[in-house]
Amino acid sequence: MYKNLFATKPVEAAGHVDAGEPVEGGLQGEVTLKRVLTARHLVMLGVGAIIGAGIFVMTGTAAANYAGPAVILSFVMAAVACGFAGLCYAEFASMMPVSGSAYSYTYSTLGEVVAWFIGWNLVLEYLFAASSVAVGWSGYLNSFLTTHGAGVPAALAQAPFHYSAETSSFVSTGSIVNLPAVLIVAAISGLCYRGITQSAWVNALIVAIKVTVIVAFLGFAAQYINPDNWQPFIPENEGGTRFGTEGVVRGAAVVFFAYIGFDAVSTAAGEAKNPQRDMPIGILGSLAVCTVLYIAVAATLTGLLPYPQLDTAKPVATALEAYPTLGWLKMAVEIGAIAGLSSVILVMLMGQPRIFYAMAKDGLMPKIFGRVHPKFQTPYVGTVIVGVVAAIMAGLLPLDFLGDLVSMGTLLAFATVCAGVLILRYTRPDLQRPFRVPGAIVVCSLGVLSCLYLFWQPFKDHWQVMLGWTVIGFVIYFGYGYRNSKLRKAA
Ligand code: ALA
Repeated sequence: MYKNLFATKPVEAAGHVDAGEPVEGGLQGEVTLKRVLTARHLVMLGVGAIIGAGIFVMTGTAAANYAGPAVILSFVMAAVACGFAGLCYAEFASMMPVSGSAYSYTYSTLGEVVAWFIGWNLVLEYLFAASSVAVGWSGYLNSFLTTHGAGVPAALAQAPFHYSAETSSFVSTGSIVNLPAVLIVAAISGLCYRGITQSAWVNALIVAIKVTVIVAFLGFAAQYINPDNWQPFIPENEGGTRFGTEGVVRGAAVVFFAYIGFDAVSTAAGEAKNPQRDMPIGILGSLAVCTVLYIAVAATLTGLLPYPQLDTAKPVATALEAYPTLGWLKMAVEIGAIAGLSSVILVMLMGQPRIFYAMAKDGLMPKIFGRVHPKFQTPYVGTVIVGVVAAIMAGLLPLDFLGDLVSMGTLLAFATVCAGVLILRYTRPDLQRPFRVPGAIVVCSLGVLSCLYLFWQPFKDHWQVMLGWTVIGFVIYFGYGYRNSKLRKAA
């Protein structure tokens, strides 16, 4: 039993892959995914997935409640942890260009049961992120519409439950459903169903809009920065993780959410034209672009307004409200945020069915998730199922609760990928690695430690939820995956 649980899937480097040569076959001779994505598409996909609710919503909370102006340092800390993980993802994704991401990498290194655990955590990352960002999107849209006299009625604009951290329970809000959040998930799922090329095209357009808006914000708002707002840079600790160095670390865990998404590039590896060369470019390129933008936005934001005033659902717009001459920019930022958040939802809703696709091919998920549409060449059944579940959660659950679970699941996956790279260096030194993590012993170890530290430190409140999630996962594994695993059947 023990040996079965930790059986590893044999890994073979892909050799060179070109457009039209799928690495992965479909199930039972079905159609396979289409290789159409270039390096530029992949960087765009990464930026599309990364820039979203984290920078547009959570930066304000992190500055006002935890780090003060030193939220800039929080962004640097989170970027360092993500940088280690990004290097490790780049090595794996160029060596094994498959759509299962961390799940597939773990299957080849730490064995089936750990792979299942990570695949299950990736559901927290992708599916829950799609829902939580949809909730943020709904908030921005409603605020924009309200400014223009056309807000959604309150009963249809927010979740019926609010999560109270003090009592660790859900409290009724009096609303019925978050209708805009449901509708945006439904619309984007339809796009993902239709095709990868269309999805990538729409994503590129949205990325152009949101990056332009952020660069305009940086350019035009810079002249209004008041350096006095950066003092004290690290406000004195007020107990717990409220300010001080403890607050900077807590802030790093909050803004970590902002970086999630560069890893989603790896789920498109099965659809990349030249994954060996382009995966590292897509993953590390998008992470680098976003890191620079984030640090600049954090510095500008905290320079525009005293940090206690940034605790709103739309801090970038709030900071601009203080400068009436920049009214036009505020409107542009709101439009950019609405567009920007929708591309995050898009990439997350593309990623999740592709991970299920990989798991179905291994027999750990029902075969239906491996079905590829004969015309559109997308994993369409998985796309519909994921879309329905994400829409229900987006309609019923609040953003902060979902957001914390997303970060926790992602941090565990990142730590496992960093460990996996190191393990495979020893167990399979012979494999061809088009991209190698430099100084792997140091980088991978620091990657594991920094991700586990961010997981451990701030999220103690949600450990019981994580435990419950893990138990449900293992019930499904032993009820289905363990019995249907192709690896075990072949043994
Ligand atoms: N990084 C993504 C966001 O900030 C998940 O919305």
